[in-house]
Parts: sequence; structure tokens; C-alpha cells
Amino acid sequence: MASLSFFQIVWIMVLVNFPTGTIGDKVNIGVSYPRFPPDVPSLPQEIIDLYKKYGIGKIRIPPIPDVLEALRGSDIDVALGIPNEDVETMATNFDFATFWYTQFIEPYVHDVKFTFMIVGNEAIPGERGSFVSPAMRNLQTVLDNNGLGSSIHVTTAVSTNVLDFTIPPSAAEFTIEALNEGLDKVVEFLQYVASNVLMVNVYPYYDYAADPANIRLDFAQFTANEAVIVDDTLNYTNLFDATLDAFFWALERANGSDVRLAVAETGWPTAGNGNVTTTALASTYNNNLVKHVVNYNGTPKKPGQGGLDAFIFSLFDENTDPDMGRRNFGIFNSNLEPAYPLFSANGNKHF
Ligand SMILES: *[C@@H]1O[C@H](CO)[C@@H](O)[C@H](O)[C@H]1NC(C)=O
Ligand SMILES: *[C@@H]1O[C@H](CO)[C@@H](O)[C@H](O)[C@H]1NC(C)=O
Ligand SMILES: *[C@@H]1O[C@H](CO)[C@@H](O)[C@H](O)[C@H]1NC(C)=O
Repeated sequence: MASLSFFQIVWIMVLVNFPTGTIGDKVNIGVSYPRFPPDVPSLPQEIIDLYKKYGIGKIRIPPIPDVLEALRGSDIDVALGIPNEDVETMATNFDFATFWYTQFIEPYVHDVKFTFMIVGNEAIPGERGSFVSPAMRNLQTVLDNNGLGSSIHVTTAVSTNVLDFTIPPSAAEFTIEALNEGLDKVVEFLQYVASNVLMVNVYPYYDYAADPANIRLDFAQFTANEAVIVDDTLNYTNLFDATLDAFFWALERANGSDVRLAVAETGWPTAGNGNVTTTALASTYNNNLVKHVVNYNGTPKKPGQGGLDAFIFSLFDENTDPDMGRRNFGIFNSNLEPAYPLFSANGNKHF
């Protein structure tokens, strides 16, 4: 039996998910558990208590037993990641999929509400990509055998790197590389299963930071008052929706017209890249994002589609991430105080 690498990929994400147009007592923000253990400022229970204090209703986590223990009875929806390192084994060894279920799902399933199993993060394209869909199928079979196949979405997360481009959305396709390295089979699987959600990592920040001369800041931050991109009959006031529609067009072209989307990661850093990364800009983006998700009623291409699951990256700054560009996305400081106003303690009043 392969050993599990708990700490190699460690996320807890800020998840925002509301029924269409309604405002609950809590804001469902998922929080990324710091991925590098020395950087964890608090015990899992303290972090889960932070979720409760701020009415955070959903969480994206790695398979860490202490975190799962802390989630018992919490009424927080849980998206659980299968680390990239485990995807090949899960694909090639059905017993490992069963083992994984008995380690991380079965002991908790009666008092932890699992909503997503994310099989690999940005594993496609890449050398592990072809193992993603067989791993998803094995896990789906295990869940089906235990009566959980329709209540838990088996998915994987991809970035916009799998698209050739995103503007105009109607011209977007998946890259040949991504399709050949596993995405074609993932789409085939998702088109077939009932719980058909593809998770996508959507960062208007990176698009803007890479090309500030051509991408408008207000388009990236949900503050434009008029259409910035007119794509035939579809008008876009924000890059977030344009990116989702680029995925929808690409899915259609890959025979995945029934596949829905959820946002596995989005966010804006407070520092690290000059005047493009300030607390003010991060606050504007994430506050507008939450409003957008609260009021979400589909995209221009797919209007009236109901709620959207979206996770904000991240709970804390992750100062030991070797990728410097991912260090400053935290919405809370390590003393558990907000980095800027986003969610209110003891009930959300912002929306
Ligand atoms: C889209 O924008 C164009 C140009 O601004 C405008 O003429 C058109 O009425 C808009 N369409 C919709 C559906 O809002
Ligand atoms: C979509 O389906 C058609 C018809 O079965 C097939 O020829 C085509 O290769 C498929 N496209 C992709 C990207 O899988
Ligand atoms: C950052 O500074 C440059 C140079 O002064 C300026 O052109 C740009 O608009 C600034 N960007 C933001 C987001 O403030």
C-alpha cells in the first residue's frame, strides 16, 4: 500500500456558495489550510472555529485527519482533495481507492458533509494527467458502492492553462496538449456522470498583472459599469464571467456541453507585485467576488443556472510557498484577525 503524503499539497480554500439570490446566515467562505506545516499558525480546531465565527460555510481541505476531526458536526461543506502524488496509484489500483475511502471518507461521513472530491489539482496537462480520469472513475465506483455516488461530486481542478485563450470567450478551445494529456477523458467522464462538475482555477489577477496595458482593472475587479468585451450577442462586464464562458465554449467543443463548473480557486494578493497587489485592490476584488457569487445567476452564455460554488484562495498568507507569487493571498492574518473587512464575525452583514 502506498503511503500517503499528507503535507505535500495542503489546501483549505475559502468557498462561497449560496442558493440563487438568497442570503444565508453565513457566508460560505472556504479557507486554505497553510500548505507548509511550519507556517500553520493555529491548530485545526482553532481554524475551524474561525470558520464558525465568520459564518464560513464551506471549506477546501487536503486529507488531514486532524482537520477532518475538527470538522465533525460543524455543518461546513467539505471539498476534499486527493493529492497529485496519489492520483496514479488511485488510477491503477482499485484497492487504493477503497483504502483512501476507508481512511478519509468513511470514518467521518456521518458527521462531516462532503460535497466534492477533487482528484488532482492542475495535474492536467502533465505527466500525471492521463491518470486523472481513471482515478476519478475508481473513486466514483467506491462512492457508488457506498451509496454516496450522487451526493458527492467527483471532480478535478484545472487552470486556464488548459485553454488556448479566454477572450473572446466564444473562440476558446482546450489546448491539444491538455486534451491529449487527460482532459478529453475527464470531459467524457463528467459528461456521463450525474454529478458533473469541472473545477476551474480562475484568477483575473494573473491576467491583469500579465497585461495591464490591455486588460482593464475594472474588468478584472467587477467594477466596470458597461460591457468591456462584446462577444457577438454576449456582453461581459467582468473577466470572471468571461473566463467561465470560455470554459463553457471549450467544453462544448470537447463534447462536454452538459458539464457544469465550480471555481476551485480565485483571489487577489495584498502584496508582492508592486501597485498591482495592494490591500485595497485585494479587498475590492474579493468583496465584489463574494457579491457576484451571492447574486450569481449564470453567465452571459449560460444564464439562469443557479448557484455557483467558488473557493477563495487563501485563508492566510503562505510565506514559505516556494512560488513567491502565491504567498500573499491571505484574507486573515496569522493572529486570526481579518487582513481587511470581508466577512463579519457572528453573522454576515455585508451582503
Ligand atoms: C451589448 O453591448 C452592445 C454595445 O454596447 C449593445 O448595443 C447591446 O445592446 C448590448 N446587448 C445586451 C444584451 O446588453
Ligand atoms: C466529439 O465527438 C465527435 C463525434 O463522436 C468526435 O469525432 C470528436 O473527436 C469528439 N471531440 C473531442 C474533443 O473529444
Ligand atoms: C501602477 O503604476 C503605474 C506607473 O505609475 C501606473 O501607470 C498604473 O496605473 C498603476 N497601477 C495601479 C493598479 O495603480
